[in-house]
Amino acid sequence: MNSILVTGGAGFIGSNLVEYLVDKYPDYKIVVVDSLTYAGDVENLDSVKNSKNFTFVNGDICDRDLMERVFQHYIVHGVIHLAAESHVDNSISGPGIFIETNVKGTFTLIDVAYKYWMEKPFVFKSGFENSRFLHVSTDEVYGTLGETGLFTETTPYAPNSPYSASKASSDLIVRSYFHTYGMNTVITNCSNNYGPNQHDEKLIPTVIRKALAGEAIPIYGDGKNIRDWLYVTDHCLGIDLAFHNGKGGEVYNIGGKNERDNNYIANKICELLDTLVPKEESYKDQITYVEDRAGHDYRYAIDASKIENELGWQAAENFETGILKTVEWYIKKYKG
Ligand SMILES: NC(=O)c1ccc[n+]([C@@H]2O[C@H](COP(=O)([O-])OP(=O)(O)OC[C@H]3O[C@@H](n4cnc5c(N)ncnc54)[C@H](O)[C@@H]3O)[C@@H](O)[C@H]2O)c1
Repeated sequence: MNSILVTGGAGFIGSNLVEYLVDKYPDYKIVVVDSLTYAGDVENLDSVKNSKNFTFVNGDICDRDLMERVFQHYIVHGVIHLAAESHVDNSISGPGIFIETNVKGTFTLIDVAYKYWMEKPFVFKSGFENSRFLHVSTDEVYGTLGETGLFTETTPYAPNSPYSASKASSDLIVRSYFHTYGMNTVITNCSNNYGPNQHDEKLIPTVIRKALAGEAIPIYGDGKNIRDWLYVTDHCLGIDLAFHNGKGGEVYNIGGKNERDNNYIANKICELLDTLVPKEESYKDQITYVEDRAGHDYRYAIDASKIENELGWQAAENFETGILKTVEWYIKKYKG
């Protein structure tokens, strides 16, 4: 049984991915390493905790000794690396931990994998010839777009926030391990995700939570910032395809062709809540504009044609189908 190490598996995307992998690949042992920061929650893994092919290790990817022990103990054959500090606002108020986890943590992890899988540059140890390191990253590394254009895999990096700069740095470290040591790496750069298990601090859970609590729904600036929204399980499928069928050393952009601005999102969620949990006034009355995020990128949008054409990836959800499922899930979470 091959062991696949999934870092950050107790977080939003990680927990959805682990559920997907445990179910789809009964012959893999899925080993999650997560240090359970404020953003991680073991309860996100409740659905898999009793599965025979799942193990949880409470640990920090920056802890080299621990990472070495995990690789040795579980005979790790592949890595899907998601552990990160992920919230842009937190990176503005406290950038240090973003450098620590996203840059140093990624370096520690890939260096441990390199030494465990390879004799020397371009020579794999016996039994690890197919060992792959997949690094999950973000479209934010490309900076911001104007009204038109899409990010492709060749768009120059131009990160604008401490978060995106730390992710861009980690992408470049992974790239260097492919070119210098011949490691089998793949990087995926995905647009904004939404769906079950996302932390309360992020936009969509915040809109739903504040709406249901009867509080002001805060929207940054004029609400016209645009993101390309992808339902989380569509991202998991993209990671799966890139991990199993992607070409070593390549980058794959993943995005849903579902550009929506924050005004649309807040209004759409309020309309759904007006139907699903009606009250006298529309939830839209609670929408409030607050001071904009410092350095707020205007627009992100992904050209996903490479992963579509080369790996056959296709999003199953569009924003309207995905947001309905999401709102229903958070109503249960927040209202019981
Ligand atoms: N959420 C998005 O829209 C999005 C889009 C594209 C890419 N990504 C990337 O996907 C990955 C997962 O994002 P997410 O939204 O699920 O994040 P998240 O914040 O929900 O989860 C991150 C997880 O990593 C864990 N973690 C943090 N520091 C750690 C450390 N030092 N050692 C071990 N575990 C640690 C946390 O406990 C948490 O469980 C990140 O790398 C992020 O950059 C996210």
